[in-house]
Amino acid sequence: MPETERLILRPLTGDDFADYAAMLADPEVAGGLAESVGGSPADAWRSLAMFIGHRQIRGFSHWALIEKSTGRFVGRAGPWQPHGFPGLGVGWCLARPHWGKGYATEAARAAVRHCFTVLGASEVVSVILPGNRRSVAVAERIGHRHLRDLTYRGRRVHLYGQQAPPA
Ligand SMILES: CC(C)(COP(=O)(O)OP(=O)(O)OC[C@H]1O[C@@H](n2cnc3c(N)ncnc32)[C@H](O)[C@@H]1OP(=O)(O)O)[C@@H](O)C(=O)NCCC(=O)NCCS
Repeated sequence: MPETERLILRPLTGDDFADYAAMLADPEVAGGLAESVGGSPADAWRSLAMFIGHRQIRGFSHWALIEKSTGRFVGRAGPWQPHGFPGLGVGWCLARPHWGKGYATEAARAAVRHCFTVLGASEVVSVILPGNRRSVAVAERIGHRHLRDLTYRGRRVHLYGQQAPPA
């Protein structure tokens, strides 16, 4: 299981539902997501099921982010590529009480490394809604740059990304 300095990255499971639903119940969290899930418990259930199912289909997915010092669920992040996504994606989402600690950047760096070293990707991308300043800041801190804008699931979005370092 991947680890960072402060986080354990483990597969999401059904047991994460209560924490996951609490995370998405905050409109600031659900509102940042280009997947445009809502914030109700039913929306959270579908979102969690999608990330768990994605691992079944693709063999990889976002991980649950577990704070080593407390064992608490702080969010999710990782690689993914649902049907119709413009490349191998890396994404991040934190419960509101855990913003401002550097956890998204820490997990996103691990996700990018995983894509290049384990999944053998030559490029990773992230879809970010215009105005999501905190997400753009994460993207820039991990070495992404703005690639282009495109329409994703009916919305204009920014595509950020980076190439694998030369071997
Ligand atoms: C996008 C999102 C994950 C960014 O969260 P974040 O907390 O701003 O990002 P990080 O976890 O990387 O934390 C960075 C901040 O922690 C601070 N920080 C504090 N301690 C730190 C430490 N030990 N190491 C690194 N940074 C630290 C940094 O200075 C930075 O602060 P700043 O934003 O005031 O400059 C969060 O806003 C979120 O979950 N939004 C809703 C979902 C979403 O939009 N997801 C993205 C879809 S594209």
